[in-house]
Amino acid sequence: MTSSTSFPFAFAWGAATSAYQIEGAVHDDGRGESIWDRFCHTPGKIAGGEHANIACDHYRRWRDDIKLMGELGINAYRFSVAWPRVIPTGTGAVNGRGLDFYDRLVDALLDVGIAPFATLYHWDLPQPLEDAGGWPSRATARAFVDYADAVSRRLGDRVKQWITHNEPWCASYLGYGNGEQAPGHRDPAAALAASHHLLLSHGWAVPVIRQNAPGAAVGITLNLVPAMPASPSAADYDGFRRVDGTMNRWYLDPLYGRGYPVDVLADARAAGHLPPGEWALIEPDDLAIIATRCDFLGVNYYTRAVARSRIPEADNLPRTVDVAPPSEHTDMGWEVYPQGLTDILLRVHLDYRPGPLFVTENGAAYATAPGRDGRIRDTQRVRFLHDHLLAARRAIDAGVPLAGYFAWSLLDNFEWSHGYRQRFGLTWVDYETQARTLKDSGRWYRQVIDANAVVPVDWA
Ligand code: FCB
Repeated sequence: MTSSTSFPFAFAWGAATSAYQIEGAVHDDGRGESIWDRFCHTPGKIAGGEHANIACDHYRRWRDDIKLMGELGINAYRFSVAWPRVIPTGTGAVNGRGLDFYDRLVDALLDVGIAPFATLYHWDLPQPLEDAGGWPSRATARAFVDYADAVSRRLGDRVKQWITHNEPWCASYLGYGNGEQAPGHRDPAAALAASHHLLLSHGWAVPVIRQNAPGAAVGITLNLVPAMPASPSAADYDGFRRVDGTMNRWYLDPLYGRGYPVDVLADARAAGHLPPGEWALIEPDDLAIIATRCDFLGVNYYTRAVARSRIPEADNLPRTVDVAPPSEHTDMGWEVYPQGLTDILLRVHLDYRPGPLFVTENGAAYATAPGRDGRIRDTQRVRFLHDHLLAARRAIDAGVPLAGYFAWSLLDNFEWSHGYRQRFGLTWVDYETQARTLKDSGRWYRQVIDANAVVPVDWA
């Protein structure tokens, strides 16, 4: 018998990170430059002019960080491999020393019974590939497959869970469409091309990884956003359709064999972001390749979008607003909306039948600092995790084959264009000393994992 708060047998309880956000050591062991190095060192791009040259110094402190994982009690760890460590100029020779780092990490994880979930691309494209056209160019998709081949050849005997891409919407739209993230272009047509090549590279890489990692499961992680109209008006409904179209269906539809959604294609043509008629960069087999069946889908969930009518803007995307009152917001300004996790998991399961699902990221930014006694009483994060885990549990009750949950993040880290101010960690990082301290949320999460059930919030 399982109670309404307990989770299935063999549930993956994890924490997630990404290479650029934690590793630092950007010049060590032959690592090349990535678009994030370049972006961070371009004035005006990152809050406070910060960068991740040191970040959490994980490249040197990884053994301590695995001990920390032991304190948390997680049985799975999602990390990303830095392409510029493995193939420093994006194409050509493989840098063995770069791979050695992940090799040791994987061995040490397995030694302590933690299953490695490797993400191949968490946004750190080698700069030379960007210089040659970046993701809007088909050649980048080809280069990704060679990189995926090199990594999975080396780690495929031990890593049994692979994620090709993290959040292609962010990599394409924020990177090439509105310029908020690296490489910082503002060109909606380039963002559309980038999204196609990200998906294509995924489809090409899946069989390569499977061949190199016998018995492994291969998937992709999307940032999905449960969207809803702010009112029943036709205009707000249209805003909702556009948000859902550009953020969810644009990725889910082609991955699950439906091709690109015709309404989003029509909007893009109307806005002049795509030429009329056929989309020339789609070659005959592309859609079949993108629809290569995956073994699981990763869902990153942070908040919902409540759409108002379209506000004319250069990029022709709708603005989203939160419904007031009384929503609570995290330090990122994101609405706390746990029910959205149930909703999005259920919708994806019912609409697309992707098979096993993982929540590959979920978490909240709260800057709660250590008290005089050194303890970090991040009660808002404990409440956030508690309510979202119950929401995940409700999805399981409703029939969703949810196989695991990864809290974002193991550590406070470099939060992209927000720098170090946004703290998502279960662990406090003192960036002066690099000391790590488990927050109350981390201690609470440990109780959850031990019980394989959502425990009350006052167990911290
Ligand atoms: C996601 C990213 C992750 C982190 C969280 C807060 O979009 O995948 O790297 O920045 O947001």
